Amino acid sequence: MFLSEQHIHWHDQTVKKQNREKLNGHKSFVLWFTGLSGSGKSTLANALEMKLHKCGLSTYLLDGDNIRRGLNADLSFSSSDRKENIRRVGEVAKLFVDAGCIVLTAFISPFEEERKKVRSMFHHNEFIEIYVKCPLEICEQRDPKGLYKLARIGKIKDFTGISSPYEPPQNPDIIVDTHQLTIEENVREIVSYLQQRNYIL
Ligand code: PPS
Repeated sequence: MFLSEQHIHWHDQTVKKQNREKLNGHKSFVLWFTGLSGSGKSTLANALEMKLHKCGLSTYLLDGDNIRRGLNADLSFSSSDRKENIRRVGEVAKLFVDAGCIVLTAFISPFEEERKKVRSMFHHNEFIEIYVKCPLEICEQRDPKGLYKLARIGKIKDFTGISSPYEPPQNPDIIVDTHQLTIEENVREIVSYLQQRNYIL
């Protein structure tokens, strides 16, 4: 415990998540996308957000590349900084869920333990882990930003899948295969998961 925590007290707020959900007309929860660089996390999260947005739902997408340009600009890709990255994103996602939003996060989030920690910050029905599954060779062939190429010649160190580990989720809620299926098919699969479990109508 930090010294300052001893003198910090939680304030209960009068307007609660349930009030905001009622106002928005839908539940708030997190869709946590995890997968290798180039697996299609951002593309899929973007397409899904658009679909939900067009249905009139309040959404917000937190994306690794973007958050690392602002809030987390002080963090590198060392294991400890990646852990801090995911911890902060978990906290931000929690605020957005409290604000009544459907939050989509697109971060490599390579470590099982950190993903479990984030899950534990939410009620069991507020957190949906989506494994964006794609073989490393295919991600490397796609190499949309040319980063794998640089990692292979040692110009980028600690690169996920090459010189830094990726631990596939042991128990994801949804697995989407971006190698075999199209973005549209994967969006449909996630939407039907959400409908079947009454997250959305
Ligand atoms: S992490 O592991 O969750 O903290 O990473 P994340 O915040 O999602 O950032 C991943 C994006 O950063 C770019 N990038 C790297 N990725 C992996 N390893 C290294 N060393 C690295 N350096 C830069 C890359 O564009 C990642 O974006 P995506 O969308 O995953 O390809």
